[in-house]
Amino acid sequence: MQVCKGFAHFVLVGSVVLSGVLFAQSLREVAQERGLLVGTAARAYLLSEQQYTATLAREYNLLEPENDLKWQSIHPARNTFDFVSGDQLVEFARLHNMEVRGHCLVWGRYLPQWLQDGHFTSSQLRAILQEHITKVVGHYKGKIYAWDVVNEAMDEKGQLRPSIWFDQPGIGEAGHGTAYIEQAFRWAHEADPGALLFYNEAEGEAMNAKSDAIYAMVRDMKRRGVPIHGVGLQMHILNLKPDLDGIAANIRRLTEIGLQVHITEMDVALPVDAEGRQRDPADLQRQAEIYGRVAADCFSTPGCTTIQTWGFTDKYSWIRSWTRGNKGSATVFDGEYRPKPAYQALRSVLRQLPQSTPASTQ
Ligand code: XIL
Repeated sequence: MQVCKGFAHFVLVGSVVLSGVLFAQSLREVAQERGLLVGTAARAYLLSEQQYTATLAREYNLLEPENDLKWQSIHPARNTFDFVSGDQLVEFARLHNMEVRGHCLVWGRYLPQWLQDGHFTSSQLRAILQEHITKVVGHYKGKIYAWDVVNEAMDEKGQLRPSIWFDQPGIGEAGHGTAYIEQAFRWAHEADPGALLFYNEAEGEAMNAKSDAIYAMVRDMKRRGVPIHGVGLQMHILNLKPDLDGIAANIRRLTEIGLQVHITEMDVALPVDAEGRQRDPADLQRQAEIYGRVAADCFSTPGCTTIQTWGFTDKYSWIRSWTRGNKGSATVFDGEYRPKPAYQALRSVLRQLPQSTPASTQ
């Protein structure tokens, strides 16, 4: 009898421990019960690392190739498309029941040398861009559910940035405002009428000149029947006092005109030491609050059902190189894949939301 009790006690303690450690619901499990997507950027060359893939598949139901679909990697020469690493990520997502966001089709940066130095005329560029969009979106038709069609086309004042696609020399729409952007959306829609098409932008998250210009552009496009379905707010947060009320208000106004909002590239950069560890441990709590608030404000707005972070482990986040070593520790898992307070904050925000019927995407 005594022995049995002891055994039962052991089993009970054992299962509590197991459920606390091993069987705690992952982000994607909690999100799935609520019909939401929680995603991350990922890199194909890291799929060979076991801890990387285990965490990616366990925690996320959405994946976005961080660099593998950009022009430099997918269109390395005038007549060459290279889908190898993009295909690896899309296949990984399929095997693990994850959706895929595509990033990105039109951007003035990270372009291959052959294109930048090609001295192409506007009509040649028009043909090159149309072919690129048609081939890339066509290749992933039915496999990529949402595309960032145009990325970072505006400066901080909300003016269109000069670029090879807009006006240097452009695809033939220079002087016609956002017409080149609209054209890209039409080509993408023709290539995959089922894909959701997004305009994706940095530093237009809160209420400011840039987000006003984005709002005006997408409202105009929507009114005129341009195939645009949403706005991606990148959400690279570099200071610990972001205008969270402004972000919530901007999410609301975009969704009120019938567009979706995806948080597409969230990270919250902290001051770090030479090893990349946060200088002040209290910053981890502040970081968690910011992740939690943005998630809560998104998910409490109908039309904002997707949050994605720009990488998931500090081991591979782009922030340290982008800030020349000054900032880092920006993601929700540390360099050893241990969940940080920001991870717990995201999960508890998700948990507090009402459950719905299981998402069809799982
Ligand atoms: C960054 C990647 O994270 C880096 O690995 C790469 O070297 C440069 O691009 N906005 C975007 C992303 O839309 O494509 C950028 O990604 C980060 C800023």
